[in-house]
Amino acid sequence: MKDASPAAAPLEIFLSDYTPPAYLVDTVELVFKLHPTATRVLSKIAFRPNPEATDRTFYLHGEQLKLISATIDGKDANAKITDLGLTAQAPDAPFVFEAEVEISPQTNTALEGLYMSNGMYCTQCEAEGFRKITYYPDRPDVMGVFTVTIEGSEPVKLSNGNDLGGGKWHDPWPKPAYLFALVAGDLVNHPDTFNTMSGKQVELNIWVRKGDLNKCAFGMDALKRSMKWDEEVYGREYDLDLFNIVAVDDFNMGAMENKGLNIFNSSAVLASPETSTDANFERIEAIIAHEYFHNWTGNRITCRDWFQLCLKEGLTVYRDSQFTADERSPAVKRIEDVIALRARQFREDNGPLAHPVRPESFVEINNFYTATVYEKGAEVIGMLKTLIGDEAYYKGCDLYFTRHDGQACTIEDWLACFEEVTGRDLTQFKLWYSQAGTPRVAVKEAWSEGTYTLTFTQDTPPTPGQDVKDPKVIPIAVGLLNDAGEEVHATRICEMTDVVHAFRFTGLDAKPVPSINRGFSAPIILEQDQDNATRAFLLAHDTDPFNKWEAGRALARDVMIRMVTEDATPDQAYLDALLAVARDDTLDPAFKALAFSTPSADDIAQALFDGGVTPDPTKIYNTTQTLRQSVAHAMQDTLPRIYAEMQVDGPFSPDAEAAGKRAWGNVALSLLTRLDGGAQARTQFESADNMTQQLSALGALLRAEVGEEASNAFCEQWKDDRLVIDKWFAMQVSYAKLDAAPATAKALTNHPDFDMTNPNRFRAVFGALAGNTAGFHSPDGSGYALLADWLIKLDAKNPQTAARMSTAFETWKRYDADRQAMMREALERMKAASNLSGDLLEMVTRILNA
Ligand code: BES
Ligand code: ZN
Repeated sequence: MKDASPAAAPLEIFLSDYTPPAYLVDTVELVFKLHPTATRVLSKIAFRPNPEATDRTFYLHGEQLKLISATIDGKDANAKITDLGLTAQAPDAPFVFEAEVEISPQTNTALEGLYMSNGMYCTQCEAEGFRKITYYPDRPDVMGVFTVTIEGSEPVKLSNGNDLGGGKWHDPWPKPAYLFALVAGDLVNHPDTFNTMSGKQVELNIWVRKGDLNKCAFGMDALKRSMKWDEEVYGREYDLDLFNIVAVDDFNMGAMENKGLNIFNSSAVLASPETSTDANFERIEAIIAHEYFHNWTGNRITCRDWFQLCLKEGLTVYRDSQFTADERSPAVKRIEDVIALRARQFREDNGPLAHPVRPESFVEINNFYTATVYEKGAEVIGMLKTLIGDEAYYKGCDLYFTRHDGQACTIEDWLACFEEVTGRDLTQFKLWYSQAGTPRVAVKEAWSEGTYTLTFTQDTPPTPGQDVKDPKVIPIAVGLLNDAGEEVHATRICEMTDVVHAFRFTGLDAKPVPSINRGFSAPIILEQDQDNATRAFLLAHDTDPFNKWEAGRALARDVMIRMVTEDATPDQAYLDALLAVARDDTLDPAFKALAFSTPSADDIAQALFDGGVTPDPTKIYNTTQTLRQSVAHAMQDTLPRIYAEMQVDGPFSPDAEAAGKRAWGNVALSLLTRLDGGAQARTQFESADNMTQQLSALGALLRAEVGEEASNAFCEQWKDDRLVIDKWFAMQVSYAKLDAAPATAKALTNHPDFDMTNPNRFRAVFGALAGNTAGFHSPDGSGYALLADWLIKLDAKNPQTAARMSTAFETWKRYDADRQAMMREALERMKAASNLSGDLLEMVTRILNA
């Protein structure tokens, strides 16, 4: 967070203004004398002039620090202090800077820098949190070797690197300050070891509060599988003798990849069958992998500046999605990723917050840890791999790892490695990093005497600051089927490079049915004239599992849109297609569950808006209900059998197969609940021995408005488990009927267990409100007003989380004049609030300026 005082003009930083640091750091020695409100931090930093620098200004970042003393080579530094940092006269030769500052972890509710969570000290330094610990060149292109001493009565004291004993730590790998970490508290560990590919033994630990020791085994197993996978797939070995993970209850994000000391939101690491759902297990496995993979993509090779964030995040998300695909089901993972991409990134790309994967300017970097940088950033890596092929991809990665080890790099450095191994010019490809907006690709087909031609036309709509777009290179995977559903042309990558680009397929007996953008090979919006019969045909026959699902999704979207705009009844062709999916014994149950999920209310709202129709959230809600009711009726004879067949016997296992059966069984349960008044769901709720079954049953009951009793029992049963109670808070709001969500959320803020300083709890209530489309957009505007009230309150304590949650308003221009006026009012009210942080101010300003 920047200086929060209203007088300070927000400072916009530009990629084009990058200059190398004036001084580099060799070594850093830190001593922490821990105290809740008066921690002393002593620093001794060896600086030397950077030969590549153009100026010699000695400037150190520092915010909310009380300076006790500062010296240069033992003499008073005569430092000039501002709200943002320190300047001093420094020699044009190597020198030692020493300082002592005082900070107050206990009162640090922003959860950035050194703070306290449940009596435990911990840090979060990415992106610019180290400057709240001491004066330092807090930029990722300054890398130093850290030695840390922690003084305090806490039984466990941890920092990066190797344990020298007595609270002293040494990290041999030079690192930027954002990877620094410190933890101290009354913790216990779940230990294990891992033998690396070169035969070194690494000590592994997951550190938790005493009561959580029974929730560590799964995370540890996921860590070891991640370590093995990175050796096997990318040839990357771990590089310290010790790897520590710590679970923290109060944490803004999911987790953080600090060198040798990853810090996790407890929700992103603690798992047990009784308290975690299958979705939780999958997420925990992915986050552990993600943070571990950063050791190479992020830590050994880091970012030159924060504009290059996708260099580590997009790549690491790509790597963790490869891992999940390998460990579980590639088809299911791809479908899940595309659902999330559309829900978060397409939404962002199509609104006021649209920005390139590599932004060109920012005010607050914390606001750029976005779906675009992460998810679209990962898609860009996937496209690169598709375009150059697997072999060249891994060769390029190897070159990147060897050439840039120990450096702070740019996207140019990354791409140069692939240009070098392939001899290919990636200039046009680079537009994916610099141009915002989701390309729309229109498809036309032609058939003549054995030749089938697909003509694609690309168009990327204007985004803030970018009116005109150049054509991008788009890898579109295409396969062709005949009328019998047999593949007559295997998948081919059509490399689109122009605005209009035609691709011919020859030697065909009859006009084929195309399957376009297989595997979602490019993150585009495909505009093709496809009738519902063709969609149903592809849902039944496409050999590409992603497009098989996609056809069903397009069908569902079309059915819902016609229900909303034409008051149509649910299309029989859709119901028949679903029935066929349900009966197809060759399909993976997890796939069936995904094929039955209907597009979200937000998806439908977006699709309506794109088609020139103002979405009515109430109508979308009612349509979804009607459609699901129709599906339940159409399936009524089959549901009990599906439900029975999908029961998993024996001890709980979170593996993909068992999870898939539970998912499909619970789809059947939720449909059954619409027919049986909740009898089956109540039985499942009462007999469940794992959270997936218990929570699914509760959700089905709440959706059918017969869940109050179960909900109370659930709350009583789990009152001592914070992570489960988060679920309970979220369920009330997510499953509140139509426009009851704002009142429900408001009532929950008065619940004794509501705690706005815990980001998980705040998100449980208000994330659920924002995600309940009909509820958030209640016609009386109470959803908007409530969220604005609470974001203003939260902003005073935790600007980063408040700013992130303001994206609930990013779609305001889609809606009718009344709703737009009320959302504008809410945004203006936040903007005018006194002492608003720079974080939230930047967000509401950008949203309003659409
Ligand atoms: N480096 C980030 C954590 C982070 C994000 C720190 C924003 C500071 C500001 C970490 O690697 C990360 O990306 N975590 C994700 C989870 C991941 C699986 C995408 C998160 O925390 O949500
Ligand atoms: Zn990350």
